[in-house]
Amino acid sequence: MEFSHTTVLLHETVDGLMIRPDGTYVDGTLGGGGHSELICKRLSADGTLIGIDQDDFALDYAGRRLAPYACRKQLVKNNFVHLKEVLGEAGVSQIDGIIYDLGVSSFQFDDETRGFSYHHDGPLDMRMDSGAELSAYEVVNAYPPERLKKVLQVYGEERFAGRIVNAIIKERETKPIETTLELSELIKAAYPAKERFKEKHPARKSFQAIRLEVNHELDILEDAFSAGIEALKPGGRMCIITFHSLEDRIVKHFFKDKQNPCTCPPEFPACVCGKKPEVRIITRKPVLPAPEEIEANRRSRSAKLRIAEKL
Ligand SMILES: C[S@@+](CC[C@H](N)C(=O)[O-])C[C@H]1O[C@@H](n2cnc3c(N)ncnc32)[C@H](O)[C@@H]1O
Repeated sequence: MEFSHTTVLLHETVDGLMIRPDGTYVDGTLGGGGHSELICKRLSADGTLIGIDQDDFALDYAGRRLAPYACRKQLVKNNFVHLKEVLGEAGVSQIDGIIYDLGVSSFQFDDETRGFSYHHDGPLDMRMDSGAELSAYEVVNAYPPERLKKVLQVYGEERFAGRIVNAIIKERETKPIETTLELSELIKAAYPAKERFKEKHPARKSFQAIRLEVNHELDILEDAFSAGIEALKPGGRMCIITFHSLEDRIVKHFFKDKQNPCTCPPEFPACVCGKKPEVRIITRKPVLPAPEEIEANRRSRSAKLRIAEKL
């Protein structure tokens, strides 16, 4: 299968890094290397790009795409939450900028063998890192009902989590649920008939929830961003693209807390808690794709870019 992923908010994100040609930049979500390619174009032979992804296929594809560029490149298989370790192994102590383009790539989503899509039949997998232990199969077939319901409620904001979990448990009593289409049909049938056509697809929220659970996507964000801020040089930039409100809320609050960490009561005349601002928020409102980008790439429509600068 050919790698196909249209990079979202390409220029807005890379412009946001304010690249210095001899600087060191990290792409925490290398994917198909779209953002990294533009970073490499702006780096001289003295500049460095460190690309991180947990997906072997993405690393392989991006490696070939970036090979022609003169800058130094290190592409690493890891979770971006382990940034400190990645930088240590690369012999780098501080960086000039970092980007995160969160979530899965279109390539992962469209490859039915990866089990991310409720439109294509495939195994219940959804792992970005195919060596990881937890897959969608275990979440769907082995999680206790209450835990599964919580996943759908918290990560999917699914109103009908209870009905869906009841249908899953009933099915599990006869046989395991093996495929994405089995699961999506079961979810559709569990939806109240009059609600079934109001949603884009009744399985959309549950699939998002299970994917976030399988890959621990939200749990790691704050630790990951803290490690990123710690690694940045003063004046270095962090650019984060999110695709749904749960992610965006985490980024927004993270940046706000880092910009204004003071915990003193507002009536105190001066700060006594001693917590100092670590960043300046560059984007008061998130940057959204232009209408032309949304027209050309429907998947960009929910994207939001937020940028902060290390003080
Ligand atoms: C939206 S795609 C990035 C696309 C890329 N910016 C481009 O232009 O081609 C997200 C990529 O990040 C990877 N990814 C997501 N979460 C990750 C994590 N916590 N650690 C490492 N890689 C991650 C996914 O495997 C996927 O390849």
